[in-house]
Amino acid sequence: MHNGVSVTQFIIEEQRRLPGATGDFTSLLNDVVSACKVISNLVNKGSLIGVLGTADTENVQGETQKKLDIITNEVFIKSNEWAGHLAAMASEEEDDIYPIPAQYPKGKYLMSFDPLDGSSNIDVNISVGTIFSITKCPEGIDNPTKEDFLIPGTEQVCAGYALYGPSTMLVLTTGNGVNGFTLDRDIGEFILTHPNMTIPADTREFAINASNQRFWEAPVQRYVDECLQGKEGPRGDNFNMRWVASMVAEVHRILTRGGIFMYPKDNKDPSKAGKLRLMYEANPMSMIVEQAGGISHTGYERIMEMQPNDIHQRVPVILGSKNEVEIVVGYHKD
Ligand code: AHG
Ligand code: MN
Ligand code: MN
Repeated sequence: MHNGVSVTQFIIEEQRRLPGATGDFTSLLNDVVSACKVISNLVNKGSLIGVLGTADTENVQGETQKKLDIITNEVFIKSNEWAGHLAAMASEEEDDIYPIPAQYPKGKYLMSFDPLDGSSNIDVNISVGTIFSITKCPEGIDNPTKEDFLIPGTEQVCAGYALYGPSTMLVLTTGNGVNGFTLDRDIGEFILTHPNMTIPADTREFAINASNQRFWEAPVQRYVDECLQGKEGPRGDNFNMRWVASMVAEVHRILTRGGIFMYPKDNKDPSKAGKLRLMYEANPMSMIVEQAGGISHTGYERIMEMQPNDIHQRVPVILGSKNEVEIVVGYHKD
């Protein structure tokens, strides 16, 4: 039996350190935690409860939705809409923002989320996750619109993800480092197992979808080519490669043992600046990575400083171990 620190205890103790904290935020995070437990259970049961496979519908991104994309979106909304902490939500799976229904009180926070990240992996039983980002609703706004969500990532008050892998984990930051919790299913609690997670500054492991190579820009071509040349090339060392196609799993690997992850700008579709979405993928992951000592960049600018122009905006992402990301950013400057 353990007597570890539960995520609830951890959040309450963090809040106590903040002057003027009302407990509102603690309570909001508890609802997020509940949603992640429900999603973990659904993902875990899989075929036994008939939740795998496609829903044959399309979301606003033009992507075919899996049944679980829709179900997990519903779970996240239902867990978070009722308690009075949020003014509105934005989701990968909702075309527009989701206003808090009239029967519930409204709160002072906005939440953007990706209910099921890496959903192409769900039917093949590979890790998926949930990503969320919390900001304050602008002062004096009771009925936020899409525009009220367009706040730079530097303003996030909390970012986190749940990873549904061999263990279910929750990784959180409120701007005071990064902490990881593992779900103990027997007691139904996330327990602090990975305090103060930090990303090693150096790495010899990169992650990129190499099937897009012909569309990459010169700096990324150069970087990957140099890694592939190994010991005999300009880097003078052998590199390893990974691609899970679940950003949550890639970021978690990087938080655990270092690495660099890239979904860079490419010319595959000139109308899209990248693949990943700023508000509910790139920004929350950037906050986590930076809080763990890493860097998160587009190659041209720090992701968290970007002024968003749409809730579903796409951005290039290059993140991970500091010294390696700096090399790629340097190639963009050359
Ligand atoms: P989602 O399942 O929420 O649409 O996100 C998938 C994202 C990200 O998790 C992953 O890194 C990337 O898409 C994988 O893209 P490819 O299929 O192009 O490799
Ligand atoms: Mn995603
Ligand atoms: Mn998703």
